[in-house]
Amino acid sequence: MSREEPDYDTSPALRTMAMPAHANANGDIFGGWLLSQMDLAGAVLATQKAGSRIATIAIDAMKFTAPVHVGDEVSCYCKVERIGNTSITIHVETWARSRLGGRSAIMVTEGKFTYVAIDEDRKPIPVIRPVNKEAKK
Ligand SMILES: CC(C)(COP(=O)(O)OP(=O)(O)OC[C@H]1O[C@@H](n2cnc3c(N)ncnc32)[C@H](O)[C@@H]1OP(=O)(O)O)[C@@H](O)C(=O)NCCC(=O)NCCS
Repeated sequence: MSREEPDYDTSPALRTMAMPAHANANGDIFGGWLLSQMDLAGAVLATQKAGSRIATIAIDAMKFTAPVHVGDEVSCYCKVERIGNTSITIHVETWARSRLGGRSAIMVTEGKFTYVAIDEDRKPIPVIRPVNKEAKK
């Protein structure tokens, strides 16, 4: 693994455990379940930045590099990649490790999730607004 494992002292946007209900017929975890966890994790950061409702508009550059097993601890780490006018793109890395400590954490997938800040009528609104200083940080 060429990547450095994220510092586990810093909080991931989301941490959960892969359960039997999330497995496919081979006993490995469904990619679709992982993708939904990553969408949720990215949405947490995008919502903080936008300070408004958000909606996922695009998911790009997803790559699954290693399987996740039932019982693994799954952590999604998020980083703002780009803030546009109404959109925020978040890079999400997902790492898994055995909950019993049998192996160290490995990066299992990563992807680029883009969210649009929306108002109550679901219309796009600027991410950076006079009332929203958070997005600039
Ligand atoms: C989100 C939504 C309100 C945006 O409205 P829209 O009229 O399509 O938005 P726009 O075309 O004005 O684009 C909005 C932003 O998204 C960006 N965008 C559009 N398509 C994109 C794509 N394929 N990839 C990345 N960004 C994209 C635009 O560049 C724009 O960003 P900017 O303002 O920072 O430049 C609307 O598309 C929607 O409701 N989609 C469904 C959302 C949803 O239900 N998601 C869950 C899926 S189950």
